Amino acid sequence: MLDTSKFQVELKLFAIRLPRELCKAASDLLHGYMLDKPRTKPITKDPTSEKNRYIILSEKVQDPDLSDIPSEKIDELKKLFKVEVFPYSVTLGYSHWGAGHIAHMNINDELLPYKDVIAKVIYDKNYPKIQTVVNKVGCITNEFRVPKFEVLAGKADMTTEIKQFGATFKLDYGLVYWNSRLEHEHIRLVSQFKEGETICDMFAGIGPFVIPAAKKGCLVYANDLNPYSVRYLRINAKINNVEDCVKTYNMDARKFIAQLMVVPTCETQCASTEVRKGKNMRIKASVSVDTKPWEHVDHVIMNLPASALQFIDSFRGLIRRKFWKGSLPWIHCYCFMKLTDTRESILSEAESALKARIQDPVFHMVRSVAPHKDMYCLSFKLPEEACIWEE
Ligand SMILES: C[S@@+](CC[C@H](N)C(=O)[O-])C[C@H]1O[C@@H](n2cnc3c(N)ncnc32)[C@H](O)[C@@H]1O
Repeated sequence: MLDTSKFQVELKLFAIRLPRELCKAASDLLHGYMLDKPRTKPITKDPTSEKNRYIILSEKVQDPDLSDIPSEKIDELKKLFKVEVFPYSVTLGYSHWGAGHIAHMNINDELLPYKDVIAKVIYDKNYPKIQTVVNKVGCITNEFRVPKFEVLAGKADMTTEIKQFGATFKLDYGLVYWNSRLEHEHIRLVSQFKEGETICDMFAGIGPFVIPAAKKGCLVYANDLNPYSVRYLRINAKINNVEDCVKTYNMDARKFIAQLMVVPTCETQCASTEVRKGKNMRIKASVSVDTKPWEHVDHVIMNLPASALQFIDSFRGLIRRKFWKGSLPWIHCYCFMKLTDTRESILSEAESALKARIQDPVFHMVRSVAPHKDMYCLSFKLPEEACIWEE
């Protein structure tokens, strides 16, 4: 029996209360910032007064001061009515989840003899909405974290388009990593970034952190070792109109971060500044054209939970303090916590790699992956002792 309660997700959002006759004008102004989920209306009644309505805002709006919405829009709203913001939670259940045109299955051993029959029924009963039925084969062991699928019914086309966080992502399931269950984590982390900040994503995949961060007005240096991921990352930057704010790299994460932090000699620095100015004529005003990662980065994302901790040592002696401006970066390192692991053991592994004490680490539980295996995000400010101090 399918336990549909397992599909329930509670979204913690904000809503604006307003006189009902102003709903049309306000929703025109808030276009792109209202809740946008299938089978869920963004405007609801106020149970305490027939004269009012609530407009539920999307996950993009993370702050009750509405700073994620352009200030001109808020000024226009304030001319119409007194803007009051309330926390608003929405529970999405089984019926709210849509599907792309590919049906994924993870058939257990007991049912494997019937896999073709199961696939045929799913295909016949859902065509043309479902055009391909696939089954995951084996465990993910390759370094690009791409699962292997066998096509059981329909056309052997694994390319699809997915919407997440108001952005569109193109991908080929057979070539790149994608996990829809991380949507909330992508939103949670990006909500901590501010317009104009510089972000490095060492294991970017096709860009579920990168594209929303760039849409927010951040400059993002994004890397992945899988050339197909980088190909889709570039396509996704283009279709979401953030090409100028995303710089892509295709190399090992260790080499990527080391290369970004090299302080150029005078000649290379002058030459690269000219190239940047030439290429970035259309860059968003909020992103500094002359951003130099060896001088400042705000956040580094490391989402390769099976081994990201083993890359932490690449930060030891990475930053030359005399060239760095402002505070040191936040590192967001994903990891798995198994039965024998504790927060202390994970922290101690990160500290040994850095050869420095980490102050005020933050552990966030992302999701339970299997019994006794949870995915966590460990966030911390890079310690000063991990940097190079020179005269
Ligand atoms: C778990 S996925 C995360 C992708 C994306 N950030 C997300 O949240 O969906 C990890 C990514 O790291 C890439 N990868 C694996 N080893 C790498 C390495 N040594 N250097 C850079 N990227 C690597 C894989 O190709 C994969 O796209």
